[in-house]
Amino acid sequence: MTLKFVVMSDLHVMPQGELSMTLDTGARLEQAVDAVIARYGDADFCVLAGDLADLGQPSAYEHLKAIIARLPIPVHITLGNHDDRDSFLSVFGDGYIAAETGKVDKTIDLKGYRIILLDSSEPGRVDGVLSEAQIAWLKARLAEAMDRPVIVILHHNANALHIESDNIRILEPDAFIAALKTHPDIRQVIAGHVHLTSTATWRGLPFTTLAGNHYSCSVDQPNVPMRRLTGPGQMAFVLGTADSTTVLFDDFIDGNAEIFVED
Ligand SMILES: [Fe+2]
Repeated sequence: MTLKFVVMSDLHVMPQGELSMTLDTGARLEQAVDAVIARYGDADFCVLAGDLADLGQPSAYEHLKAIIARLPIPVHITLGNHDDRDSFLSVFGDGYIAAETGKVDKTIDLKGYRIILLDSSEPGRVDGVLSEAQIAWLKARLAEAMDRPVIVILHHNANALHIESDNIRILEPDAFIAALKTHPDIRQVIAGHVHLTSTATWRGLPFTTLAGNHYSCSVDQPNVPMRRLTGPGQMAFVLGTADSTTVLFDDFIDGNAEIFVED
């Protein structure tokens, strides 16, 4: 019994016919949906980890909704800093709000795992915020699942990646880390936001970011500025068993040519 799910992030969908940073993000999402249909049609679900819409207009969410309707698996959603919560809810419905937190938070229990989605977006801010109510909610959801491994998915990275955009991560992560530490088996904390692939251990917990559907960021260093790149268009494919949790990165717009050799 293997848990299998796809994570997409940073879709940055625009209203039909409009581009974002020169890219047709709607067409890129169509390619991502094609890749899921071709490769992950038997996955348990897909998570959209925020920055669903670039500018947050209802028409962008309508466009998103039309594209993801083709996904052959259930879709679970949380929001990022580019999203507009009211606008999102006007298209997708108020059912996405967790009553206890007032944000787009959710738990999914499947195949011996608990998956927790946290909405780290805060109106008017680019960095991430988890409210006191969300930390209390997270602790309660973790307390219910002490007998199971847990995967947490949210838009903003909590850990510093030692790059310039560290200044827009979850800037006050201590309460989040303390909440996670109440559980003995946090398998992954998966985020988007940085448009960059990374994996890290911080304070004894495993953190991953995926590059997502929009432009990707080159690695910047103090004297090396970040460059925005058109590719690769990346989703994560997560496989969970009783004793392992694996994150594979699938570049669905990779531009690489396939090599054919005789084995
Ligand atoms: Fe983004």
